[in-house]
Amino acid sequence: PQTAGRTPAGSVTVGGLDVRDLAEEFGTPLYVLDEADFRARCRAWRDAFGPDADVFYAGKAFLSRAVVRWLTEEGLNLDVCSGGELSVALASGMPPERIALHGNNKSSAEIEQAVEAGVGRIVLDSFQEIVRVAHIADRLGRRQPVQIRVTVGVEAHTHEFIATAHEDQKFGLALTGGTAKPEAGGGPAAEAVRRVLKLDSLQLVGIHSHIGSQIFDTSGFEVAAHRVVGLLADIRDEHGLELPEIDLGGGLGIAYTPEDDPSEPHEIAASLREIVGRECRGAGLAVPRLSVEPGRAVVGPSACTVYETGTVKELPGLRTYVSVDGGMSDNVRTALYDAEYSVSLVSRTSDAEPMLSRVVGKHCESGDIVVRDAFLPADLAPGDLLAVPATGAYCRSMANNYNHALRPPVVAVKDGEARVIVRRETEEDLLRLDVG
Ligand code: LLP
Repeated sequence: PQTAGRTPAGSVTVGGLDVRDLAEEFGTPLYVLDEADFRARCRAWRDAFGPDADVFYAGKAFLSRAVVRWLTEEGLNLDVCSGGELSVALASGMPPERIALHGNNKSSAEIEQAVEAGVGRIVLDSFQEIVRVAHIADRLGRRQPVQIRVTVGVEAHTHEFIATAHEDQKFGLALTGGTAKPEAGGGPAAEAVRRVLKLDSLQLVGIHSHIGSQIFDTSGFEVAAHRVVGLLADIRDEHGLELPEIDLGGGLGIAYTPEDDPSEPHEIAASLREIVGRECRGAGLAVPRLSVEPGRAVVGPSACTVYETGTVKELPGLRTYVSVDGGMSDNVRTALYDAEYSVSLVSRTSDAEPMLSRVVGKHCESGDIVVRDAFLPADLAPGDLLAVPATGAYCRSMANNYNHALRPPVVAVKDGEARVIVRRETEEDLLRLDVG
């Protein structure tokens, strides 16, 4: 987090608070979320895109009541992809018109909840869903604004992207191919547009595309924008209609290790605006309202996880295994995606030699790795506190109860004050679910 510093005694501070005091008061493992950092990042995104664009924070990265309040105050909108996320958003005062509902398999109950609440958009993901949303909106007497999610044939992750004719994955409707009336021209996406335009209870406002996550190279967005604008031009030619919105999804990468070099929001905004503007001018279209959906790039860098060191086991000639009191239950990303993180000793400074270490959790499997390769001081001992930065996104939100682990709390820090925003799970919480 931006507000990290050190005390004269050598321990690390976040938001003006000593991590040793935070660990003492709230226990470990502990997610520490820097509210000022989060809000600053929201403002950077909002300011970068300006008043003629919308920034939808992707709630799947991390969502809580406090986060929804901060987003609302900072002028961001919210992308949710389940009834659970939608409930948190509505219960915390996010105006429904600023909410978008996503998902490849929304249940009728979720659709009904969203239409009834009056969400600003539902992003349609299949032919069956077009019918389902239309029926529900019709029954509730609503005209629901919708976007159609298209697969642009670009898949981007980290430093690369690949462009293929069809993406072999579950989301969206392809621009080309498919069996839906190819004689009418275009692919499933063009056919979806035809079907939506025939339904009075749906108001088609735009086209949506999301090409991947942890992306550093904006050229994938360039191909996506080119193809989405191509569809907008086809829609104008076929239906005499210029759709007012285009959403290019999320996916902007963050620095997990010092080697990662992500772009700033203003660079991304300038690049996306330039690409969309150029493509629209080329196609003779008015530039639609642009929106994006960053999750990781807003909340990822704002939090760190604080662990207490337990067993330190040296394997001569190999490495030292440093066990901490959490693991794949509070950060599954290393085990699941081979994600890279860094780690530091934060309760004191040390002049001891660096030792090649692997930070592992306390779960009953050897894949339970938090940080695969790290150098930690050779005098590391049980009771030392370690912090893993950049754990704000997809860590608490993907936390689990493997081995009946209790999911750690999220503590928001700001100006020397700490506040629990998601409390630690208790054994009673787990036993309450177990009704057998
Ligand atoms: N919009 C849509 C439609 C998405 O599917 C996603 C992420 C986002 C926005 C936000 O993407 P972001 O800006 O956070 O990269 N669990 C994985 C990431 C899965 C992302 C899924 N969709 C991880 O931990 O890396």
